[in-house]
Amino acid sequence: MPQSAPYQYARTLAFRAIDPAADAAALIAFGRDLYVESTGAAAGFARDFGRYGQKFPLWVASCAEADPAFSALLTEDGAAIGLVVMGTGDRRARIGHVHHFYVRPSHRGRGFGGLLDDYARAALKRAGFVRARLNVTARNARARRFYAAQGWAEVAGASTAALRYMEVTL
Ligand SMILES: CC(C)(COP(=O)(O)OP(=O)(O)OC[C@H]1O[C@@H](n2cnc3c(N)ncnc32)[C@H](O)[C@@H]1OP(=O)(O)O)[C@@H](O)C(=O)NCCC(=O)NCCS
Repeated sequence: MPQSAPYQYARTLAFRAIDPAADAAALIAFGRDLYVESTGAAAGFARDFGRYGQKFPLWVASCAEADPAFSALLTEDGAAIGLVVMGTGDRRARIGHVHHFYVRPSHRGRGFGGLLDDYARAALKRAGFVRARLNVTARNARARRFYAAQGWAEVAGASTAALRYMEVTL
């Protein structure tokens, strides 16, 4: 077998739909960590999704009601390593929304975020959107660097001191 990088990753990656009951534990752990990375604390997660984050799995699954591809887990050999969640954003302006990108800490810095980004753009484009938008907290420097590296650009005039709005053409 060739020794170049693509051949050394002998694992199976796949995107699959969410099962809010079976995936509840992974989704709650991912959601809580997402809030910690974004805001510095888990308090907002409990405020938005209940003390134990118990409403998060159903909310993630509900995003797939708009389009079956709008919430998905990235799996490696069947185990969840990433999450992507989208919404319809501004239908009239044909701007889709990315709610969340998340990669497990053990798998960060290896390009999996780029797979989530590719998935989200393809899903939104298929659904008829021409641009995608997201917001990211100003303090989440790694995520902002990641988005800029993937080609997302800050929307002039839309951002606040705490929140940055970013868009990309699909
Ligand atoms: C933002 C995120 C999705 C990027 O995914 P990723 O798979 O780590 O993306 P990449 O592999 O392209 O790496 C992104 C950066 O992390 C760096 N990195 C390297 N090793 C790392 C590690 N072990 N842990 C974290 N980051 C690491 C990479 O070098 C790269 O840095 P650079 O911008 O200086 O080049 C991921 O970091 C994440 O899930 N963060 C927590 C949740 C979050 O903040 N989501 C966005 C909310 S809006």
